[in-house]
Amino acid sequence: MSGAGAGIGEEICYQLNELGVILVCVDVDGEAARRTAAAINRGDRHSGVPKGTAFAFECDVSDKEQVGRVMQKEFRARAGTGSTTLP
Ligand SMILES: NC(=O)c1ccc[n+]([C@@H]2O[C@H](COP(=O)([O-])OP(=O)(O)OC[C@H]3O[C@@H](n4cnc5c(N)ncnc54)[C@H](O)[C@@H]3O)[C@@H](O)[C@H]2O)c1
Repeated sequence: MSGAGAGIGEEICYQLNELGVILVCVDVDGEAARRTAAAINRGDRHSGVPKGTAFAFECDVSDKEQVGRVMQKEFRARAGTGSTTLP
């Protein structure tokens, strides 16, 4: 999810988490992306966020090179997946 750190992107992360989706939270503001992912990973009964699985990455999605680096190298290294598909 791009723009996962705030606003619509953050809210969509929480909604997808409720459906059991594993989230890759991406934001140009890395700290904001990490906040969203942390809320999902620990769960927050108070605000109704169920415990789930989320990864956080700092990335400007308008920069093709950054997207390539994050998805092909960093994401693979951390999530251990063999392939990534960008919609
Ligand atoms: N069509 C409509 O009715 C409607 C309504 C609301 C918002 N919008 C649009 O939807 C978009 C999202 O709105 P919002 O309120 O969630 O915005 P927001 O500014 O609150 O959140 C956007 C998030 O995306 C991140 N971000 C911005 N540029 C980025 C980039 N290049 N790479 C990675 N992350 C980036 C920001 O750091 C922020 O965390 C905006 O463009 C807004 O104008 C449209």
